[in-house]
Amino acid sequence: MNEMNDYREMDARFYMQAFGRNLKLVKGAGSRVWDADGNEYIDCVAGIAVCSTGHCHPLVVNAICEQAHRLIHCSNLYYVPGQAECAKKLVEITGMAKAFFVNSGAEANEAAIKLARIATGRKKFVAFENGFHGRTMGSLAVTHKPAIREPFEPLEPGCSFVPYGDLDALARVIGDDTAGVLIEPIQGEAGVIFPPEGFLAGVRELCDRHGALLIADEVQTGMGRTGSWLALQQADVAADIVSLAKGIASGFPMGAIVAREGLEFKRGEHGSTFAGGPLACAAALATIDVIEGLLPSIPEKARRFAAALADHDPRVRGLMIGITVGDDCPKVQEKCLSQGVLVNCAAHGNLRLVPPLTITDDEIDRVAGVINGALG
Ligand SMILES: Cc1ncc(COP(=O)(O)O)c(C=O)c1O
Repeated sequence: MNEMNDYREMDARFYMQAFGRNLKLVKGAGSRVWDADGNEYIDCVAGIAVCSTGHCHPLVVNAICEQAHRLIHCSNLYYVPGQAECAKKLVEITGMAKAFFVNSGAEANEAAIKLARIATGRKKFVAFENGFHGRTMGSLAVTHKPAIREPFEPLEPGCSFVPYGDLDALARVIGDDTAGVLIEPIQGEAGVIFPPEGFLAGVRELCDRHGALLIADEVQTGMGRTGSWLALQQADVAADIVSLAKGIASGFPMGAIVAREGLEFKRGEHGSTFAGGPLACAAALATIDVIEGLLPSIPEKARRFAAALADHDPRVRGLMIGITVGDDCPKVQEKCLSQGVLVNCAAHGNLRLVPPLTITDDEIDRVAGVINGALG
C-alpha cells in the first residue's frame, strides 16, 4: 500500500496530471488483469475496446517478439516487413480498396480528413453532436464535446454539428461544398448510443446527393467489436473512408484508414515516421487471425450478456454494451471494482462494457452478477 502511495506521489510529481486514476495494473492474461497489490479483476474496459484478443494473447506476443528479434524499425523510406500483408488483410475484411497506416484513432481521423479534403477539393465537414473523434487539433475540430474542444479554438474551421439520428438536420447543413460527413456507426464515448433504424443509409444517401464523402469512424466499433469486422457491414452501408485503431493490434499502438477504389494519398501527401512499422504490422496480422476465429462466437456472447443484464435495458451490439445509469454511474463503477470487475462510465451516466472478444461464458455470468448487484 505504501509502495502504491509512493508511486502516486512520483506520478503526481513527474507526470502531467491529465488523467484521473487510482489503480495500477501490472499484469494481464485473457480477460483478467491484476493490480499492484495482487487483486484480480475481469477487465470489461480492456484498454477501452483495445485489448480485443485479451491481454497478452500468446499468438500476438509471439508475433511481436519474433519480429522484434528481426527488425524493430526501418522507416517508410523502405518496404516495411508485414505492411503490405497487413494492408491486404484489412482490405479483404473491410471490402475497401486500399489502406494507409497511422498510430492512433485521432491520427486515423486526421488522415481521413486530409484525404477527403484532397479528394474533393472542399474544406467543410459535418459531424454529430456527442460524437468523439480524437484530441489532436484536426480530430478535435470534428469532435463535438464543447468542454474538450472550446479551450483550443480556433480550430480548423468549417465543421457543423447536427444531432445524431436527425436526417432532416443533416439535410439542412450538408451542401455541395461539404467534403465529408464523419460518423460513428455507434457512438462510443457518448455512451454506446445506437443510430435510429435507417439513419446510416440515410446519411449515405445525403452524401451521394451532394458528392460528400462518408467517413465512418470505426475506431471503437471496428475490428470485430460489434460481431462483424465493421459495424457498418451490419447496416449494409458502405463508407468512402473508414478509420480504425483501438482493437486493431491488441494494444500495440496502431491506426489505419481504408478507402474505397479511387481514393488514395499520392506521393508526399501524407506520412509518418512510425506508422505501419514492423512490430505494429506483426501485432495486427496476429490480431486479425485471432479475431477471425472469434467472430462466430460473438453473437452468442452478446445474447448471454443481454439476457443476464435484461433487468437494466442494456444496449448490446456484439461485445459493445451500454447501460444508462445516470448520476450514480461512478458509484456503480466503484462497486464493480470492489467486486473484481472493471467497467467504466462513458458520457451522460452510461456504463460501458467493451470486454476482450475472448471473454468466456463463466466470466460473462460473473460480470453480469456483479453489475446486477451494483445496480441493485
Ligand atoms: C470513435 C473514436 N474515434 C477516435 C478516437 C480517438 O482515438 P485515440 O485515442 O487512439 O486517438 C476514439 C477514442 O476513444 C474513439 O472512440
